Amino acid sequence: MPAPSHSLVVLDFGGQYAQLIARRVRDLGVYCEIKPYWTEPGQLAGYEGIIFTGGPGSVYASDAPLCSPEVFSLGVPVLGICYGAQAMAHLLGGKVAPTAAPEFGKTQTRFESSSLLFQDVPESVTWMSHNDAVSQLPEGFSAAASSGHCPIAAMEDPARKLYAVQFHPEVNHTQFGNAMLKNFLYQVCQCQGGWEMGSFAKAEVARLKEQIGDRKVLCGLSGGVDSSVAAMLVHKAIGKNLTCIFVDHGLLRKDEGDLVEQVFRKEFDMNIIRVNAADRFLGKLQGVTEPERKRKIIGEEFIRVFEAEAAKLGKIELLCQGTIYPDVVESGSGQAAVIKSHHNVGGLPEDMGFEGLVEPLRDLFKDEVRRVGLELGIPEALVWRQPFPGPGLAVRVLGEVTPERVATLQDADAIFREEVARSGLDREIGQYFAVLTGCKSVGVMGDGRSYGETLALRAVNTSDFMTADWSYLPYELLATVSNRIVNEVPGVTRVVYDITSKPPATIEWE
Ligand code: XMP
Repeated sequence: MPAPSHSLVVLDFGGQYAQLIARRVRDLGVYCEIKPYWTEPGQLAGYEGIIFTGGPGSVYASDAPLCSPEVFSLGVPVLGICYGAQAMAHLLGGKVAPTAAPEFGKTQTRFESSSLLFQDVPESVTWMSHNDAVSQLPEGFSAAASSGHCPIAAMEDPARKLYAVQFHPEVNHTQFGNAMLKNFLYQVCQCQGGWEMGSFAKAEVARLKEQIGDRKVLCGLSGGVDSSVAAMLVHKAIGKNLTCIFVDHGLLRKDEGDLVEQVFRKEFDMNIIRVNAADRFLGKLQGVTEPERKRKIIGEEFIRVFEAEAAKLGKIELLCQGTIYPDVVESGSGQAAVIKSHHNVGGLPEDMGFEGLVEPLRDLFKDEVRRVGLELGIPEALVWRQPFPGPGLAVRVLGEVTPERVATLQDADAIFREEVARSGLDREIGQYFAVLTGCKSVGVMGDGRSYGETLALRAVNTSDFMTADWSYLPYELLATVSNRIVNEVPGVTRVVYDITSKPPATIEWE
């Protein structure tokens, strides 16, 4: 198939951010596709530009993903990112070696102002995540940026329109990352631009109508943004042929079950069945402490409950899920390394009995899902609800999940959410919640010794949930929350605040 002439291609070497790069490019007005690194060079010839993603390995590993060197002779501009930069150097005769110290996280970086890539980019912070870097330039290249441990933080051969950066311009933490990508697209590749995401909802509803036909669909509503938007898209496409099952697994936030039921039944007039299955889930989780095991059990129970309900409803051919792109990539469905198996991807048993899956949000990031939700007319209060993991509070109650510990966490979490909302920060924070750590500590209450659980507060700023910064919550807010929790929630004697970004931590603790 000939390459479209007004688009860019992301060549995926197995990094975590292929879709994120593609999405940044789309946001900058250039249509963008993703292809695997082994794509024949001939299939890349017609694109306006090529971006190599990062990847988890070393270019010297025996199974290192490498593209054909012919890619560099196509006359199509190339931007290599992280591993992609190293692959470019290696394939063109340069050398790659471990840096004096690995760089993970925010790194002060200097740029050559004469570089087209760094036009109008002052010395600033980039996001690094590497052990290796280019140590010797390939012929024809010059260094275009440097950082403390990385003298070749970028390299370029403007004559051949080949550029490479050791850092990640696609993540929010790289200060002028978008400007660099824009420079690559419009200065180096001279893209025409003008592409718009358009109305994803309209196109997707039409696609769903075609995919589903007159078959019936069952959807697991979790009450989170993703499954709500997925269900709404399918509802718009097939109306009452969609039945939503809302499984109340007893691991929801305080009072959440009633709210979800009311919104979907009353406001949207959807076919919705609420199943109160708390005992069943908590029974299965008894004695289980390992996070991936919890996910697996919950994922399987979800499906079993669906199956039981579906059996009552007669034949239902398809299952709709609110899987979004970060779930897919972090569950290792692509070429990226497995970090966590998010239950809605990783935990599906093979004998579910459905003909297939309907996953309308599979290519989207959270903020894109919200945009679609608003287009569909879903009330802002729901669209802006912070994300909530499928396995619910089970992955926030570290160690064994008992009804008592869930109730403790629900009460503490409700206080945290109430106070954040009162402070007016609820929309600014990507996600915030409480975690029951399982760590016991000594306290003093009245004149006596107390010995209870340590509760952690987590709040992160992020737009894509692939990377995140911990939120600098005001001390007054933290003080109020801490005070209220130790006074109002029995069993909690200590409150701590999590100050780790992602990476290296993940957002959830399990
Ligand atoms: P992590 O902890 O991987 O979280 O940084 C990224 C985003 O994913 C959510 N999350 C989950 N969502 N099932 C889900 O549906 C899961 O098992 C799961 N684990 C994490 C998390 O809340 C955050 O928004």
